[in-house]
Amino acid sequence: MLEKLKEIKIIAEQKIAEISDIDEVNKLRVRFLGRKGEITRLLRGLKDLSTEERVCVGKAANELKEKLERMISEKAEEIRRQEMAARLSLEKIDVTLPGFPFLGGAKHPLSQVSDEIRDIFIGMGFNVAEGPEIESDYYNFEALNVAKDHPARDMQDSFYIDEDTLLRTHTSPVQIRVMEQMAPQIPVKVIVPGKVYRRDDDATHSPMFNQVEGLLIDRRITFADLKGVLLEFARKIFGQDLKARYRPSFFPFTEPSAEMDISCVSCGGTGCRVCSNSGWLEILGAGMVHPRVLQYGGYDPEKVTGFAFGMGVERIAMLKYGVNDLRQFFDNDWRFLRQF
Ligand code: PHE
Repeated sequence: MLEKLKEIKIIAEQKIAEISDIDEVNKLRVRFLGRKGEITRLLRGLKDLSTEERVCVGKAANELKEKLERMISEKAEEIRRQEMAARLSLEKIDVTLPGFPFLGGAKHPLSQVSDEIRDIFIGMGFNVAEGPEIESDYYNFEALNVAKDHPARDMQDSFYIDEDTLLRTHTSPVQIRVMEQMAPQIPVKVIVPGKVYRRDDDATHSPMFNQVEGLLIDRRITFADLKGVLLEFARKIFGQDLKARYRPSFFPFTEPSAEMDISCVSCGGTGCRVCSNSGWLEILGAGMVHPRVLQYGGYDPEKVTGFAFGMGVERIAMLKYGVNDLRQFFDNDWRFLRQF
């Protein structure tokens, strides 16, 4: 039987050395060490031996069993290590490869500029108000002192829903809505961002565009207050060394009315293509709130005065970024938008 054990040892060692697969390791374990394995089977024959032989063979068999167990475990460990190494070299990643671009969203340039304008006025103590884009003739025209025969009321100039309802042509109707809510409290200090609609379409006009309206009502507000607030605004958005001028103008809802010009943001005032060699750029309309408009809003023009202004966000954005065709803001071409 000792001979048989030696035989098993030689075969087992040879097999263990040969194999390279974890399944085969398990098969070997069953074959040599299992309950029906070769060593177990051999040990069953022990009972036919003399006591001396039994001790001797039993001891040798147990030693072999332990040895094979150790060898098989080591082999299994070795195979696992090799498999891991093979996988690692196969699945290695090249950390120097370029990554996948992640396309983060961003605010539209017009929203950015509108937010910036709004924030400057918030910094000066203004509140934000909003109003409906579908507006009644009353708020859009009548209460703003726009005469019945004013060309802006023409069906051809505006988008009417019915005789009495239209897409607002400016944010000024919100002046009336805010006054109605606030009167007779003072001060009224609001900024109104929003979309407006006109029957216009060319390189500098689009049927829908964005405005920011402003309204300030208090005791003894004068044109000097208007100039101070608007100069502060223009300098914050275009630069501290900017100059401003006011040209007389007309709006039915302000008296006196003015257009505000700023020194050209492109040439600084010497004259260039952007300012048509005038050195000046028109950026907004403004004026002292017409007494009749104050009355429509519920305020007594004998007790309070105010100023109002309105500007086009697209125009400010075009000047700020040097964009020469307003339609680019609405084409949604990624090559354009990604620059902001
Ligand atoms: N509502 C005018 C426009 O759309 C702008 C404006 C607003 C002018 C407030 C004066 C006062 O052109």
